Amino acid sequence: MNSTVKLAKRTLINNRRSKYTLPTNSKLYPAQWNWDSAFIALGYSNFNSDYSFEEIETLLSGQWKDGMIPHILFHIKDENYTPNYKAWDCGQKVSSSGITQPPILASVLRLIIERKKFLPKHTKRYYSHILKIKKCLEWFIKYRDPEKTGLISILHPWESGYDNSPLWDKPMSKIKIDPNLNYKRKDNKIIKASQRPLKIDYDRYVSIKNHLKKMNYDPKILYYKSKFNVVDIGFNSLFLKALKDLNFLLNYINKESSFLKNYIQLNEKNLIKLYNSKKMKFKNKDLKNNALIEIPSITNFFMLFSDLKNKSVNKSLIKSLKRYCKNEEYLFPSISSSHKLFEEKRYWRGPVWINCNWIIYQGLKNKDKKFAEIIRKNTIKLVEKKKFREYYSCKSGSGMGAKNFSWSAALYLDFILNRS
Ligand code: DGY
Repeated sequence: MNSTVKLAKRTLINNRRSKYTLPTNSKLYPAQWNWDSAFIALGYSNFNSDYSFEEIETLLSGQWKDGMIPHILFHIKDENYTPNYKAWDCGQKVSSSGITQPPILASVLRLIIERKKFLPKHTKRYYSHILKIKKCLEWFIKYRDPEKTGLISILHPWESGYDNSPLWDKPMSKIKIDPNLNYKRKDNKIIKASQRPLKIDYDRYVSIKNHLKKMNYDPKILYYKSKFNVVDIGFNSLFLKALKDLNFLLNYINKESSFLKNYIQLNEKNLIKLYNSKKMKFKNKDLKNNALIEIPSITNFFMLFSDLKNKSVNKSLIKSLKRYCKNEEYLFPSISSSHKLFEEKRYWRGPVWINCNWIIYQGLKNKDKKFAEIIRKNTIKLVEKKKFREYYSCKSGSGMGAKNFSWSAALYLDFILNRS
């Protein structure tokens, strides 16, 4: 067996706690994160189905009654995180944050089930998981698009998963800092501060969080009252794909939902409107401030993952993506390196992230095999050289952020062991 494959498996197992896996073994992220966990479950599915199943089971154990799956689950009452379970104080059975993250789990579960070619008699195992995912996606439609515009909002940059992306600079510049802020960061003591979000970012993250808490995280009012409300292309693309994959999963357990099918059409139609094929430009919407956001971010290309039916849009997206990365040795910078806000080393403001590469690869493998293969090989080469870092420079390939990063290991395994 290839030694990096062995190391990847060991990395995941070392990061594993009781039935869930930390994003890394350093002290940086001492809990279970939503989309990390989904990618990790996919990684395990390549060599240990039980661990994969348990990872998903534990993540879903934190689902709120209303359907939301939180972005963090604090299974252990560790106060060494900012903001920790006490600061969130959501009053749930499993301590958690009060916001969510991209619902990638639906797409991961579909892949796991399709690849393993489970017989209907084995479906029982995943039956309740599928129903919980359905409830979660319905929650998004109900509370994050109450006006039924066909587009889902995020109410905190942490919900996107790409926390300090320049995508959020403008809406974040409008956030008034809570005068009673009282928190101490630890992340910038564990990782070089030059690779982490700024103090002003954290002041605003915590201010938004405090405001959500003041409203008791009540989803019925947050859409209208949150200080941050953005329609993001990346998030909506992952959401659209999740709906399509949920549809597959429901068929698999002999269920149907016409409500979801209708929303898929609406979501797809409106997502396409955020892309101008002629100009090859993307528009994210800042609903709170009634403004548009035009930043060249790799997450805009998640549209390829959502398998739009419109072939000419797909073609234009691929052309635009080739242009986006034409000067890079290592794919893909999270922000175009020719943009003025690009930063080679700072978290989501430029570095390469393995989950983005995986999402783009999945989107391209049935649309441009040759390009998809280039991405696969480029990613494998980078990880074999620098091992499982949290993120990497698109210029030099150097590894940054946490070491032994779980999703880099999990998705490396998926890239190398699975081409489907
Ligand atoms: C947080 O601190 O909640 C973020 O998700 C870390 O990226």
